[in-house]
Amino acid sequence: RQPMIKLNNGVSIPQLGLGVFQTQDGEETVNAVRWALQAGYRHIDTAMAYHNEASVGQGVRESGLKRREVFITTKLWNDDVRQGRTKQAFEESLDRLGTDYIDLYLIHWPVDGWQKAWEDMEELYSQRRVRAIGVCNFEQHHMEELHSISSLKPAVDQVESSPIFSNQELIDYCHRDLRVDVEAWSPLGGTGTHLLSNPQLEAIGSKYGKSPAQVVIRWHLQRGVIVIPKSTHQERIEQNFDVFDFELSPEDMQAIAALNTGKRVGSDPDHITF
Ligand code: A2P
Repeated sequence: RQPMIKLNNGVSIPQLGLGVFQTQDGEETVNAVRWALQAGYRHIDTAMAYHNEASVGQGVRESGLKRREVFITTKLWNDDVRQGRTKQAFEESLDRLGTDYIDLYLIHWPVDGWQKAWEDMEELYSQRRVRAIGVCNFEQHHMEELHSISSLKPAVDQVESSPIFSNQELIDYCHRDLRVDVEAWSPLGGTGTHLLSNPQLEAIGSKYGKSPAQVVIRWHLQRGVIVIPKSTHQERIEQNFDVFDFELSPEDMQAIAALNTGKRVGSDPDHITF
């Protein structure tokens, strides 16, 4: 059985999901989602800004699974935050996905206006239109401000984290001080970083008969992080889910953590230009 994490509001989320950032709307996304659900995934992470919500919805329907068997996350885009369009944007996401509720709805970036957006999301939550609400790319100071203006804790903070940029301090702060779960984006280092051809990851993998991608996913799982690797290839989607039959030793966990450069691959949440 795949591991589940109980969020701070009691809702359970599969700890491993499929990410679809940069997956093309249409056949590419429909296939990725179908293959993932066939392989056993029950969690898909999309966003308005990925422009593939309609295909995610189609893939879920084509899988033959019931809606409630699949955990769907989507995100409120920056323009909608800035324009105070939370509720309209939410309805538009529901329409594209072809569903009547979202499992987890997230503010995509802490841009101007996020405080008002959070209030609107609290309302969607109290109306039971979403099973959980949370944030992405919130640094400690954003989390502190959120705590000061709202009594409702975000269920998650979804942040960049991989062996290249482990973001461990922020993760520890969320886990230990806040009891907020963390989701890792670009968990495999994203596109074009060559993390997955790192010889140390190859060497660790060969001890367990696993690939570098499987080693990195396992590292996230053992850190207690929710992880959403992206792939558009069926065999990789399947491989990335075949990570529940081995355990990295504490030494290997440390060796992977030691790859941290402290340098982000993605955008800095305090300097958003989009
Ligand atoms: P592709 O979609 O062509 O398979 P992240 O999840 O960190 O954003 O990184 C995903 C990147 O890693 C994508 O470029 C994806 O490419 C690639 N990838 C995903 N799974 C694997 C795998 N098992 N082996 C090699 N590359 C992978």
